[in-house]
Amino acid sequence: MEHSSFSGLFPSNRLRRLRSAPWIRDMVEENYVRPQDLILPVFIIEGQGNRESVTSMPGVERLSIDLLVESAKEAFDLGIPALALFPVTPAEKKSDDGAESANPDNLICRATQALKKALPEMGLVTDVALDPYTTHGHDGLLRDGCILNDETVEVLCKQALVQAQAGADIIAPSDMMDGRVASIRRALDGCGLQNAMIMAYAAKYASAFYGPFRDAVGSSGCLGGDKKTYQMNPANTDEALREVSLDIQEGADMVMVKPGLPYLDIIYRVKNTFRMPTFAYHVSGEYAMLKAACAQGWLDYDKTILETMVSFKRAGADGILTYAAKDVARLVSGAK
Ligand code: PBG
Repeated sequence: MEHSSFSGLFPSNRLRRLRSAPWIRDMVEENYVRPQDLILPVFIIEGQGNRESVTSMPGVERLSIDLLVESAKEAFDLGIPALALFPVTPAEKKSDDGAESANPDNLICRATQALKKALPEMGLVTDVALDPYTTHGHDGLLRDGCILNDETVEVLCKQALVQAQAGADIIAPSDMMDGRVASIRRALDGCGLQNAMIMAYAAKYASAFYGPFRDAVGSSGCLGGDKKTYQMNPANTDEALREVSLDIQEGADMVMVKPGLPYLDIIYRVKNTFRMPTFAYHVSGEYAMLKAACAQGWLDYDKTILETMVSFKRAGADGILTYAAKDVARLVSGAK
């Protein structure tokens, strides 16, 4: 009979027996978080020896490349295998068309080169989207109030190429333009970069939980309006499956759902439908609310962050992007 293990009734069955001591609880644990599952997103600024804290993200700093390398070494030593790089572009380098995104000598490319040199075994994920580079703060090219799709994709391909040529291992388009994964794959392959992986921000929602990130990269001041014509409606789930399906057909090696905690159902459906490497982005606002409540003494940070992480694994995520990666790595490996 199916589900025969469910057939015994109380008092012969007592589920509390398996919860009676730490050793047996650990032995029957179904999901784990390991440092190897984590990707640490980082914010990069120009200069030397520069360190700025991000007010809305306690514990997160914008770092110049030299300090970023030090921080990356610490992460790598904690067992964190990869970083996701986000540049803070100086205002004078922003433009209407975000041309700085395709400059092979831009901040993210220089950071990629420096990190690869110092830590060749660490994975580097670079973000493909125009928002750090545009004066209007949108992820694509803007004309008459509309975000242009196909024209944006052309610029994204150039951006992906300079990043991969600088040494990025994983190209991560977060822009949500249609057809960008196929075009980026073709552009990479055409330049002999067949080994560069693509992690598609496949189901990315127009979420209010990105607020602190936009402060961190300095794009919030610029952004007029919202991103609802390209990022997904938070009310939709079938559409997420269509987005993910297209990105896989276009050549994505792995897919991401973003944000994380408010979208666990999407992670679950995506993993179960496609059985692809699936990533959850525990975004800036999720991190900020946890930190804020813990700073008040209303929640226990160590416990709530671990519970949050295991919820992603339970939902089916293979990996997690989180600003708390170092804290989590320390907690799960028992280091202090
Ligand atoms: C931009 C981008 C965003 C995030 C990652 N890449 C913000 C946005 O779409 O406006 C958000 C990450 C976070 O909130 O932690 N393409």
